[in-house]
Amino acid sequence: MEKTVISSLLLFTIFSVWCSQAQPSTTQELIKGFKATPNENEPFFHSLLTDSYGNYSFGFLRINKNQLTLGVIHVKSAETIWTTNLGRLAKWAGSTDLFFNGSLVLLDNNGGGVLWSTHTDGGRVWLSNNSNLQVQKLDDVSRVYSTLWQSFNFPSDTLVENQNFTSDMLLYSSNGVYSMRLGSNFFGLYANFNLGSNRTRMYFKHKALEAKASVVEGKGPIYAVLSSDGYLGMYQNGSSVPIDVESFISYQEPGVGVRRLKLESDGNLKGYYWTGSNWIEDYKGIHDPCQLPSGCGSYGLCRSGKGCSCLDNGTDYSKSNGQCVSNDNKQGDFCSTYSHRGKFKVLRIVGVELPNKELVESHKMESLKDCENACQVNCTCWGAVYSNSSGFCYILDYPIQTLVSVGDDTKVGYFKERVNNGTSKIRVGLGIALAILFGLILLISGIIIGWRCYRTREGKRGVKMFEEEDAVVGVGPYKGLRDESFRSIELSER
Ligand SMILES: *[C@@H]1O[C@H](CO)[C@@H](O)[C@H](O)[C@H]1NC(C)=O
Ligand SMILES: *[C@@H]1O[C@H](CO)[C@@H](O)[C@H](O)[C@H]1NC(C)=O
Ligand SMILES: *[C@@H]1O[C@H](CO)[C@@H](O)[C@H](O)[C@H]1NC(C)=O
Ligand SMILES: *[C@@H]1O[C@H](CO)[C@@H](O)[C@H](O)[C@H]1NC(C)=O
Ligand SMILES: *[C@@H]1O[C@H](CO)[C@@H](O)[C@H](O)[C@H]1NC(C)=O
Ligand SMILES: *[C@@H]1O[C@H](CO)[C@@H](O)[C@H](O)[C@H]1NC(C)=O
Ligand SMILES: *[C@@H]1O[C@H](CO)[C@@H](O)[C@H](O)[C@H]1NC(C)=O
Ligand SMILES: *[C@@H]1O[C@H](CO)[C@@H](O)[C@H](O)[C@H]1NC(C)=O
Ligand SMILES: *[C@@H]1O[C@H](CO)[C@@H](O)[C@H](O)[C@H]1NC(C)=O
Repeated sequence: MEKTVISSLLLFTIFSVWCSQAQPSTTQELIKGFKATPNENEPFFHSLLTDSYGNYSFGFLRINKNQLTLGVIHVKSAETIWTTNLGRLAKWAGSTDLFFNGSLVLLDNNGGGVLWSTHTDGGRVWLSNNSNLQVQKLDDVSRVYSTLWQSFNFPSDTLVENQNFTSDMLLYSSNGVYSMRLGSNFFGLYANFNLGSNRTRMYFKHKALEAKASVVEGKGPIYAVLSSDGYLGMYQNGSSVPIDVESFISYQEPGVGVRRLKLESDGNLKGYYWTGSNWIEDYKGIHDPCQLPSGCGSYGLCRSGKGCSCLDNGTDYSKSNGQCVSNDNKQGDFCSTYSHRGKFKVLRIVGVELPNKELVESHKMESLKDCENACQVNCTCWGAVYSNSSGFCYILDYPIQTLVSVGDDTKVGYFKERVNNGTSKIRVGLGIALAILFGLILLISGIIIGWRCYRTREGKRGVKMFEEEDAVVGVGPYKGLRDESFRSIELSER
């Protein structure tokens, strides 16, 4: 079933990408009066503006099949560098407009009103050669452009070279679960496993080494910049001497391509550089996959060097596609009547601990029994992990994620699991049916697009013989697009 979906998706993507290669946008500035609606035939990205080299492109970015946000991509890899943070996604439809009247405005003409605006009074929209989308105004006297608004001040999950990451900014992973922010003398990565609540917990902390300069109290907040020399530098208040240099593998290696730093959907922070044909991984915040905050997913168990299994040894990790528990064990709490008040079974596992446990708040308790009781009676508690040797009790007030297996029987975990109410079999059946339908629709659309495209291309061939060369350039984006499409499949299967 999965194979049908994936191969139809592949065909669809090949046809669509091949088709979209025919009409690249090369506009280099948007002026007042500009207006655009998303083109229905674009499978992934509708380009509206590029930088002067054509390395980066700004446009409509397709999400969830028929919704969109605005984004900047790296053209050759189709890697998303930036997206707007829309409260509500727009429809990929003729009713959605993007226009520039001094402000860049995204409008839903179907009653949704203004979805997003830069709230500026500028003269042009421009994309810098390092992917910064800017609204600028020309000064009448000096004839120099000043910047009124820039995307660099509103990062999504990626930082590029020379982009300032300040203490009032956040990076968010694309699934919204993980975030990165600066503290007084460190940068931290945070997880929120109970979406809808604001509680985050830190799972990674990099404290400034302060080798060349110290953090001075009262001198103002710190900021971070990804340097072209291959490190993430932290600085305080405009000083050019870093308080910390977190170096990448290619540190100070000359001639390395452009760099980016991304907060990935698995919660890791990774650095990359561009070779001209692909991105090479150059830095990793978390090296041991078992120390990722949810490396094996909900109710997973990570064994160093041996991979993933499920906390409940009655569930086979690989047979259940990495889904150790039903979806109703992935949100909420045990307090409201809707969320199965009081109805749960208990898993007790010997020899487990939390990843990055030194960053997790703990309470000292006399015994395992006390620790378990504290969790059992509290309806916001999902589980507890107790260490008999230290007496530390860790209370988990979010749906259980991945635990780390340790060969130490004095570390014991207590986990609540909602009892299955029998609907999940039906849901799985429905899921399969939907997936097959989706695959068929993609296949048919792919063939139609391919056929239409074949005909337009046949028509053009007589006019422009060098069209063929463009198609060769298209090999790059095709690869990236395929990854992107697979990613959305993965998400929809969750
Ligand atoms: C941008 O384009 C120039 C010229 O084509 C190229 O030398 C450079 O490597 C490109 N940069 C990226 C990030 O693709
Ligand atoms: C641009 O359009 C928006 C939305 O219609 C409006 O709120 C704003 O006042 C306009 N800005 C200017 C400078 O006309
Ligand atoms: C990119 O733009 C900056 C500032 O506008 C300029 O200093 C730099 O030389 C440009 N880089 C390239 C490769 O053109
Ligand atoms: C989360 O915090 C934001 C702002 O800090 C607030 O507007 C929002 O209501 C909070 N959400 C919840 C569920 O507490
Ligand atoms: C930065 O430092 C300067 C002088 O060192 C000081 O005047 C200024 O207030 C500081 N900025 C902040 C935000 O603290
Ligand atoms: C980043 O910060 C530095 C120093 O604070 C400043 O000179 C530079 O203009 C900033 N860059 C951007 C893109 O805002
Ligand atoms: C599963 O776990 C239970 C309790 O922890 C244990 O008694 C049983 O032997 C385990 N079964 C397997 C197949 O490992
Ligand atoms: C239940 O657990 C939450 C989160 O750990 C805690 O804030 C709260 O005080 C606990 N409630 C009781 C009654 O112990
Ligand atoms: C737990 O620790 C206590 C004293 O620290 C000891 O008496 C007891 O035997 C330990 N229990 C286990 C299961 O290791």
